[in-house]
Amino acid sequence: MLRIENISKIYKRGHKEALKNINLTIKEGEFTALLGQNGAGKTTLINILAGNVHKTEGKVIIGGYDLDKNPLETKKIMGIVPQEIGQDYIFTVEDMLRKQSGYFGIKNNDDYIDELLEALSLQDKRKSTTRQLSGGMKRRLLIAKALVHKPKLLILDEPTAGVDIELRHSMYKFLKKLHAEGTTIILTTHYIEEAENLCKRIIVIDHGEIIADEPKEKLMDIFSQEIDVRFEFDYDIDIEDFDFLNGYEPIVKNNRNLYIKVEKNNLSKLMKVITDKGLNFIDIDIKRPKLEDIYLNLIKS
Ligand SMILES: Nc1ncnc2c1ncn2[C@@H]1O[C@H](COP(=O)(O)OP(=O)(O)OP(=O)(O)O)[C@@H](O)[C@H]1O
Ligand SMILES: [Mg+2]
Repeated sequence: MLRIENISKIYKRGHKEALKNINLTIKEGEFTALLGQNGAGKTTLINILAGNVHKTEGKVIIGGYDLDKNPLETKKIMGIVPQEIGQDYIFTVEDMLRKQSGYFGIKNNDDYIDELLEALSLQDKRKSTTRQLSGGMKRRLLIAKALVHKPKLLILDEPTAGVDIELRHSMYKFLKKLHAEGTTIILTTHYIEEAENLCKRIIVIDHGEIIADEPKEKLMDIFSQEIDVRFEFDYDIDIEDFDFLNGYEPIVKNNRNLYIKVEKNNLSKLMKVITDKGLNFIDIDIKRPKLEDIYLNLIKS
C-alpha cells in the first residue's frame, strides 16, 4: 500500500536532518501508530506524503504509483488529515466538502457527505462557515475532508489533539469502523493510550530516525518480561521478614504491602518461596507495563 525508501529531509542546507534515511512499508489493512516527541519528524514525513514538503532524498511508492511521477494517482489513494488547521474561512462546511469532492471529480456526493457529517457529529454545523467552528470541530471537518473520496489509505496527523474526551471516543469508534471496512490507517498521536487502543503496529520515530517498529503485542511482550507484583498481608509486615528475598530488592509500603519486581517466568517460584516461609498473603496484583511506559523507555534510551 505504501513504501517509503531511504527518505531524508534537510529543511535548510547545513541544518540537521529532520528525517534520516527512513525506510518503511505499510501493508493493506494495517492500523499503525507513528509516535514520537515534538520535533521527531512525524509531520515532516506526512507532509512529504501529502506533497507539501519536498524530500531531500528517497522514494515514495503509494498503491504502486511513484509519488513524484504520478502525484494525482497517489492523491486519489490517500486521504490526509493535516496537523495544522488552516482553512478556507469563507466556505460553509458542506460547500467545503462538496468542493473537495469536486476536486476528485466526484459529483453528487451529498449522501456520503451526510454520512460523514453524521459520523463526525457535524450535522448541525453544515451551514456554518469554517470560521465559526471551534478548534475541535475544525479538526473533525479536516477528517471529513480527507475522506470525501473514500481513500484506501488514511493518514491522520494528531486527529484528536484538542478534541474533547467524548468526541475522541466517538472518533475512535469511527476509525475502528473505517479500518474494519478495509481502510489502511496511519495516525500520529501524543495520547499513547489511543495508540494502545486502536493500533496494531507501533512505529517510534526519534530525532528523524525509526527507533522501534513492531506489532503492538510483540512490543508489549518484549517489554513485559519484568512485572511489578504487590503482595498484600492482613497483618503488619517488616522488611526484615523478607531477608530471604534480598536478590529481588523487595520494598514494604503501608506496613502491609510488599512490592517486588520479578521476571514473568519467575513469578510462581517467587510465590512458592514466600508461602513456604509461612508468610500468607491475602491478595496479589500484577502491574504490566503500559505502552506509555514502554514508549518512555524507548525514547530515553
Ligand atoms: N518548515 C520548516 N522549516 C525548518 N525546519 C522545520 C520546518 N518544519 C519542521 N522543521 C523541523 O523539523 C523537525 C521535525 O519537525 P516535525 O514537525 O516533523 O516534528 P513532529 O514529530 O511532527 O513534532 P510534533 O509532535 O510537535 O508535531 C523539527 O526539528 C522542526 O523544527
Ligand atoms: Mg507534528
